[in-house]
Amino acid sequence: MTANDIKRILVVGAGQMGSQIAMQAALHGYSVSLNDLSMELLDKGMKGNRAQLEKRVARGQMTPAQMAEAIGRVTLEPDLEKGARQADVVVEAIVERLEPKRECFARLDRACPPHAVLATNSSTLMISQIASATKRPDKCANMHWFFPPLVMRLVEVVKGRETSEETVELIAELTRKIGREPVILRKELPGFLVNRILRAQAREAYYLLEEGVASFADIDKAVELGLNHPMGPFRLSDFSGLDVGYNARLETYEVTKDPKDLPPKALEKRVKRGDLGRKTGRGFYDYSTTPPTPTPD
Ligand SMILES: NC(=O)c1ccc[n+]([C@@H]2O[C@H](COP(=O)([O-])OP(=O)(O)OC[C@H]3O[C@@H](n4cnc5c(N)ncnc54)[C@H](O)[C@@H]3O)[C@@H](O)[C@H]2O)c1
Repeated sequence: MTANDIKRILVVGAGQMGSQIAMQAALHGYSVSLNDLSMELLDKGMKGNRAQLEKRVARGQMTPAQMAEAIGRVTLEPDLEKGARQADVVVEAIVERLEPKRECFARLDRACPPHAVLATNSSTLMISQIASATKRPDKCANMHWFFPPLVMRLVEVVKGRETSEETVELIAELTRKIGREPVILRKELPGFLVNRILRAQAREAYYLLEEGVASFADIDKAVELGLNHPMGPFRLSDFSGLDVGYNARLETYEVTKDPKDLPPKALEKRVKRGDLGRKTGRGFYDYSTTPPTPTPD
C-alpha cells in the first residue's frame, strides 16, 4: 500500500488530540472514523472541532458548505472493531499509558485488514513497546502530532526497531497529504526530538523552582520575554494538560529508571488534586480570572 491507496483513517481517542487529528484529515479529503469509549465523548470532541471551524468561517477562511462537507467526512464510531474493519491507517490517541495502548493495538491488529498501518500519537512511548502486542510490528510506527493539531504543523514520524521503511514513508507521505510537515526519526528513543528538548528545558525550570530561585510565573515570564517563546514551560504544561506531562514522565521513568525523569513535586501535587491545566480551569494558573493568576502549591 502507498499513501495514494489510503481511503479511510480510524482515529482512536476523541480527546484534545484525537478529535483534531480526525478533523485535520477530514479537512484534507479523507473519510475518517473517530472512536472513543462513548457517544457522549465523541460528541464532545466534535463540538470542539465545530467551534474551531466556525471561527475559520467567521474569518472568511472557509465557507459554511466546506465546513459542513469536512464535518460530514467524520463518522463517530463507538465500536472500535467496526471502525477498524474498514481502516487503511489507524492513529491511536488514547490515554498516555503503556498497557491500555498495547491492549488497543492488540484489538486493532485482530480487527483491521492485513494491509492496515497502525500509528500511535504517544508523546513518549516507543512504538516497539506497543507494536509487540501485534502480529504486524513492521506496519506500526509513531506519528506524533503537537497540540493543537489543527494549528501545529509538525509531526514526528518514528521508525521503531521493526518498522519497515515502507511504513515510515507511508506515514510521512500521509502527513504531507493532510497538510502537515513530517520529520523522520530513524532510531527510536523515548520523547523523540521536540519533547526531549522541551523536557531538558522543563527540568531546568523545575530545578530553579524547587531551589526557590524564582516563582514559576517569573520563570515563565523569563522564557517568554527573554527567549521569545510564546509560552513559558509552566504555561505550556497547563495548555497541553498536566496529566499528559505527568504520565509521560512516569512512562519515561519506567524505561530509564533515572530519578530525574520522575514527575516534579509541583506537578504531582496539582495532578493529584485534579488541577490538570486549561481543560479543568486550573493548573499552574487559575483560568477563572483574566489574566489567569498563579495558583499556590
Ligand atoms: N495533549 C498534548 O499536548 C499531546 C500532544 C501530543 C501527543 N499527545 C498524546 O496523545 C494521546 C492523547 O492525548 P490527549 O491530550 O488527547 O488526551 P485526552 O485525555 O484529552 O484524550 C484521550 C481520549 O482517549 C479516550 N480513551 C481512553 N481509552 C480509550 C480506549 N481504550 N479506546 C478509545 N478511546 C479511549 C478517552 O476517553 C479520551 O477521550 C496521548 O498518548 C498523549 O500523550 C498529547
